Amino acid sequence: MALLPQVEDAWLAVEDGIIVDFGEMIDWPGISDWSNLTIVDAEEGFVLPTWCDSHTHTVFAKSRALEFEDKIRGMSYEEVAARGGGILNSAAAMAEMSEDDLLRDALSRISRMIKNGTGALEIKTGYGLDVENELKMLRVIQRIKAECPIPIKVTLLMGHALPNDYKGQMDAYMQHLENELLPQALETGFDFIDIFCERDYFQVCHLEQILALSKRHDKPAKIHVNQFYSIGGVQAAIAGNALSIDHVEVLSDQDLIDLEKNPIIVTGLPACSLFTKIPYTPARVLMDHNVPVALATDFNPGSAPNGNMNLVNSLACIQMKMTPEEVVNASTQNGAAAMHLQHEVGSISIGKKANFILTEPLEYLSELFYYFGESRIKEVYINGQKYEA
Ligand code: NIG
Ligand code: FE
Repeated sequence: MALLPQVEDAWLAVEDGIIVDFGEMIDWPGISDWSNLTIVDAEEGFVLPTWCDSHTHTVFAKSRALEFEDKIRGMSYEEVAARGGGILNSAAAMAEMSEDDLLRDALSRISRMIKNGTGALEIKTGYGLDVENELKMLRVIQRIKAECPIPIKVTLLMGHALPNDYKGQMDAYMQHLENELLPQALETGFDFIDIFCERDYFQVCHLEQILALSKRHDKPAKIHVNQFYSIGGVQAAIAGNALSIDHVEVLSDQDLIDLEKNPIIVTGLPACSLFTKIPYTPARVLMDHNVPVALATDFNPGSAPNGNMNLVNSLACIQMKMTPEEVVNASTQNGAAAMHLQHEVGSISIGKKANFILTEPLEYLSELFYYFGESRIKEVYINGQKYEA
């Protein structure tokens, strides 16, 4: 991850939305090979692959700004949830909102994300909690897919919080989702499966149930795990061949030993750590043990109301001891791999989509992350077109 191959004083050729060639200016073949050529001068800017945001909850009904105010006055994320707020609050709002309104709001969020350099995205369900509203979320995400110019992957987050009418019946709730939600969700369509495995949410046995479904239906698992406690989810995810384990702000010695032996992508979500004041995913330790790290926003109304990968990248440098080169790899190639999109996006490579970022003139790559909380991105190209929306 420390290696980021770069070409200085370079040219890059795009045709029909695909990267067709690149090289050093001294080897520029001239324009006679191309007709109707449009030339863009990158000046002293960097050209980078767009960010691949592999963990988001971009479809949600409304903000939880009042909980934000409660937290300012001293309540913790877990205390807010214990009081019936948190995910249950978002689920109630989800049930009230129409598909058209959900779509409109999500598209406007995504447009902002693309302007901030995101060129591939994963979106989860998980605020429906019941069959009707989970399917509603899935349909909205399918409509987003049809309307957005960037690749979007869909995750069925089956098991996010226990609804009140299933209080004390977690096993029955999971069985209900498997019997009633899953068959219809498979028909509507999704790519990955997920569960929030955590001491006060779903247990390792429920994660194992999800991993069995992952195998049976060929839907790779991307798992919320180790956000607050290490309860054996890492070992279950390894045994169940999960595609990625996400959060992992808490990492036990045994988790590290097991991950070193069986590396899977760990997705760090530093905006969640910043906003909820929990530890940052120990990316340095993981990378030093050859565990691949990806970075994502976790954009959601509760723990990370921000879809800006530039902030994530700065936080990874400042708080997670990741070098700028490691950050770029984590936010592009590894994010793409965590969505099974590594053959389409995630690097400047011949044959991949021409989704790339052009920065303002910069002396060092690290300046992109050093000026934290703002963007030094000048233009974003999606399928070879300058993104203007
Ligand atoms: O990834 N940890 C679980 N789910 C989300 C937060 C959900 C919420 O609070 O609305 C997360 O942080
Ligand atoms: Fe999440």
